[in-house]
This record gives sequence, C-alpha cells and structure tokens, in this order.
Amino acid sequence: MKIAVLPGDGIGTEIVAEAVKVLQALGLKFELEHADVGGTAYDRHGHPLPEATLKLAKEADAILFGAVGDWKYDKLERQFRPEQAILGLRKALGLFANFRPAICYEQLTHASSLKPELVAGLDILIIRELTGDIYFGQPRGRRIAPDGHFPGAEEAFDTMRYTRPEIERIARVAFEAARQRDKRVTSVDKANVLETFQLWKDVVTEVHKDYTDVQLDHMYVDNAAMQLVKEPKRFDVIVTGNMFGDILSDEASMLTGSIGMLPSASLNDKKQGLYEPSHGSAPDIAGKGVANPLATILSAAMMLRFSLNQAEAADRIEAAVKKVLAQGLRTPDIWSEGTTRVGTSDMGAAVVKALG
Ligand code: IPM
Ligand code: MG
Repeated sequence: MKIAVLPGDGIGTEIVAEAVKVLQALGLKFELEHADVGGTAYDRHGHPLPEATLKLAKEADAILFGAVGDWKYDKLERQFRPEQAILGLRKALGLFANFRPAICYEQLTHASSLKPELVAGLDILIIRELTGDIYFGQPRGRRIAPDGHFPGAEEAFDTMRYTRPEIERIARVAFEAARQRDKRVTSVDKANVLETFQLWKDVVTEVHKDYTDVQLDHMYVDNAAMQLVKEPKRFDVIVTGNMFGDILSDEASMLTGSIGMLPSASLNDKKQGLYEPSHGSAPDIAGKGVANPLATILSAAMMLRFSLNQAEAADRIEAAVKKVLAQGLRTPDIWSEGTTRVGTSDMGAAVVKALG
C-alpha cells in the first residue's frame, strides 16, 4: 500500500504529521512517501504541482493531502497559485467523486451555531462532482465584450457545462452510497434557470430508474441552502455539481460545530483517492500547534476504507476519535467550558493511545 503524503501549506504540515502518526500506530504495512505541494512547492520548485509530486500521486494507491494556500500567493499569476495544485491533482487523476460527510458528534452538539436540537444526530453526506462544471469548463478568460449590456467593455467569462456521462457516473455514485445509508438522495440543481442543470436533473432522474429502492427528490440550490440551516436533518445524501457542492459543503460543515472535524475523499473510477480535511490551510494559526488534526485523521480513516480495503482499521480510527471526544479533549476550535484544551500533537497522541 503506497501512500503519497502531501502536507502542503499553513497548518497542513502539522495536521498531516498527526494523521501519519495514527496510521503508523495501526500495525499495518504502508509505504509513505512525502512530496511538496502548493505554495511550499512553488517556493522550492517554482510550481505548485511539480512533476515529481504529480508522478508520485499518480503511482500511489492513495494520497493523504493537508491543505494549500496563503494570502501571500494571491498576486501570482493564476497558474502558479497554490489552489492550482489541488485542482491539477483532481483533473490529472480524474477524481470526479468528492465525498464530504457532515456529521455532528454527540459531544459537539453545542459547538454548532444552530440550536442543538436542529443538529443533534446530524449525518449528511454531500457528494460533489469534482472535475466538471464551471470550474473546468472551456472557454474561459478575459476579453472585450462583443455584446451584452456594455459592448466594448472589459469582461471576464467562465463556462458552465456538463456532459451526460459525467452526470450519470456521479448519480450512480450517489445512489450506491445512499444504499449503504438511509436510501434517500436529494439532487441539487438550478434547472429553473440553467440548461446545464436541466440536463443534470433529467439524467439523474433517468439513472434513478436503476435504483428504485432509493428515494430521489430534486431541490433548487437556493432552497437547498435554506433547508440546510432550517431543517438539516431532512437530508441523507445530497448530490450536486462542482460549484454548488463547494458552497453547500462549507455551509453544511458549520452545522457540525467545526470545519476542523470534517474529512473528505475524492475518488476516481479506479478507487484511487485523494483524502484531505474539508478545511483550508489556516495560515493565521499555522505553526502554533493549535490546529485540529481530527479532520485529517478522519480523512486517513476514509482512505483506509475506500482506497486501501482496510475497513477494520478505519473503524478503529473512528472509534478512537469518538473516544478522545468523550474524554473531553478539545482543540481550541471545538473547546467549550468544562472540556480540556489540548494542542495539535497532544490530540494526535491521544488518538494513537485510544486506538488501544
Ligand atoms: C474546496 C476548496 C477548493 C475548491 C479550492 C481551494 C480550489 O474550496 O476543496 O472546497 O473550490 O474546490
Ligand atoms: Mg470549498
């Protein structure tokens, strides 16, 4: 089992180190190989996704990814910005299926900004299509507007597009995932306005014919954004496009109390995957030893389950995380009165200990 370890920028290094500690404590045989990515890679090699890193990522069974980005790179030409590393990996490896669970742990019910009764027991899975949509659609660029409200003015444009097979395969992923859960899928679109999402809705409806044991409903994205804060527990699996999924998954993360708890997995059709916390590089707290490593540790558990066929080890990690929360250990992002404040490496060590 070869794992490419790409810590990246900001808190990436600290949190990935803890996940690696946990992996190494499992008593399994892994080959772990580190490489630079993001702003760190730009500083050292002149590119956020160097050839060597991409090569390693391609040949590995799974990628454990930290986070990329820092304000200091905002002025760089787009192709050199840290975010291009993650977008480049998604595209180069065909990681089209992004799993973003939003689970509210019992002990963290009060850390949510919503009323505890709205989020207690919350368990949603957002499945975001990750290699299409307006993120990658061509053409895009800047030009002089040939028409529109201000012909002759400077304008910028991106293209939203989806092909039928892209929608079909992500719909199948969502229905299959729902079969392992509460068997309900909400497909989120904007079919009332956008052609792209009328096709989305039509194709999801057709694919559903193969999954009649799963209940399907459709929701416009604006309504979905509202329902997520009004009655989040009504959802089981949400499937949506790249752009809507980006926005809704951040919204959903906050229901759980802290984005510092949420793992994610991005898979291709060979079950090769990139595993990363749902949060970013948090440069403001980098190097201070206060970042929450649990999202990355839980991402390592997803990696064991989805790409490495080690479901039992994944269960062990998830149980250990629940145990440290029950022990009252909290990094500052999830700390509340009456619990014990710990730093990044103490939290990692506690998880290792709780593995038993
Ligand atoms: C995410 C992030 C990325 C995205 C950025 C860093 C390119 O926000 O993974 O949700 O927009 O997909
Ligand atoms: Mg995002």
